[in-house]
This record gives sequence, C-alpha cells and structure tokens, in this order.
Amino acid sequence: MRTPIVAGNWKMNKLLDEARGLAGDVAEASGTFEHTELILSPTYVALPALSEILSGTDVGLSAQNVHWTEQGSYTGEVAPSMLEEIGCTHAIIGHSERRQYFGETDVSVNRRARAALEHDLTPIICVGESLAERQNGETELKIKLQVRAALSEVDAGDARDVIFAYEPLWAIGTGESATPEQAQESLAAIRGLLADIYDDSVASSVRILYGGSVKPHNIDELIQGPDLDGALIGSASLESESFLSIARSVESWAE
Ligand code: PGA
Repeated sequence: MRTPIVAGNWKMNKLLDEARGLAGDVAEASGTFEHTELILSPTYVALPALSEILSGTDVGLSAQNVHWTEQGSYTGEVAPSMLEEIGCTHAIIGHSERRQYFGETDVSVNRRARAALEHDLTPIICVGESLAERQNGETELKIKLQVRAALSEVDAGDARDVIFAYEPLWAIGTGESATPEQAQESLAAIRGLLADIYDDSVASSVRILYGGSVKPHNIDELIQGPDLDGALIGSASLESESFLSIARSVESWAE
C-alpha cells in the first residue's frame, strides 16, 4: 500500500515566530502518526528555522519552488543544492499560483522537477484545470498534458518518486472542494497516464494527492477514492488544529 501524505502549503503566510509555533505543534504531534507522512512547506525564509524544529522527527520539509541550475544570475531563485543544504526533502513545483501569476510553464515545471530529482528533493508537482476548462469538458486533456510535460525525460526509476497533486484551480482557496467523484476521476486519469508512459508498477507506486479546499469536514469523504493518497492543504494548514485534524483522519483511514 502507498503511504499517504498530508502536506501543508503555507504559501506567503506566517512570520517567523508564527511559523516556529505552528511547526512546533506539528513536530510535537508527529510521533503519533505511524501510517501517514507529514510535510510542511513554509516560505523560503522560514525553511532554516523549520529544519531545526523538525529535525529528529519524520516530518518532511518542502520548499515552495526550486530552480533548475546550481548557481548563477537568477535573481529571486533558489538552487536545489541550497535547499538540500538546509535539510529540505521536498519541493512543490508548478503550483497553479506560480503558473497563473509568475509565468511558470510546463517547460519550466519539467526543468525544476528534473533538477529536484537529481538532488534527492522529492518534487510535488501540481496540475489542475481551470473552471472554463472543466466546463468545456477539457479537464482530462489539460491534466494529462501537464503530467506528460512535467515528466518529459524523467525515467521510470525517478518517476516512481514523484508526488503529484491534482488541484483544480476553481477549488483552490474558494471553499468549494471537488466532489470525491470529481477528484477520483482526475486521479484515475493521472494514474492511467502513468501506466501508459511507464508501466503499471510505476503507476501503482506514485502518490497522488488532492488539493483544493481540503478541510477537516470533507477529508473523510475525499480519502475514500481508491487513487487518492492524501492531501495538499493550503488555508486549513495554517492552524495546527485543522491541519492535524485532517492528518488524523488520513491516519485512521490508513491504519
Ligand atoms: P486551499 O489551497 O486548501 O486553501 O484551497 C490548496 C493549495 O493551493 O495547495
């Protein structure tokens, strides 16, 4: 069975003291999770503090992006080795907010993903359709294009380690989650594509999360989908109580 993941994407939230407090709460509770991987993704500036707080726990530490080269004239970017050096284990790549507001493309997502894999940073690659694409019946087409592009020149050995997050744009930060059926349909399409690109063994190893208004009240229903391996959580990850409550639901489902 695939180990489920509950990941908190803090986006551009939390000053350092607040970040320390929240990470401390999660670190303290983390020993009670035996079947669920927890991951926290604070801003770049809070990564070193979290690295200290989370050391000695099994909680993963994720950057919210990563560049594809080692060093150089790339103002505002952070290299994979720099993230590795401070103890990062994961990097979120291609979040829809990066794609929407900062010009991230399928090509840059692929470059970033390959660089992460070369550095033992597990990429959490986000894909998802807009409301217009869903209404036009283009959901599957869109997410398959994104997944295929993200994995260009990624071999089967590396592909197994990739984590995907299916996050429909219309569900992010809106309070309107996809239904469990909608989520499952897209997750199954992604897994089916992984089997086409690689084989069944890769397809059944890759963890695929759902993200978009995941809350304590809807996780129990969402997690029933056979292809769902956990959640990438935005707003509900900003309070330890709601984040841990979602994680506990996933943990009891996985037991
Ligand atoms: P949300 O964000 O949980 O606030 O909808 C999810 C995400 O953007 O990863």
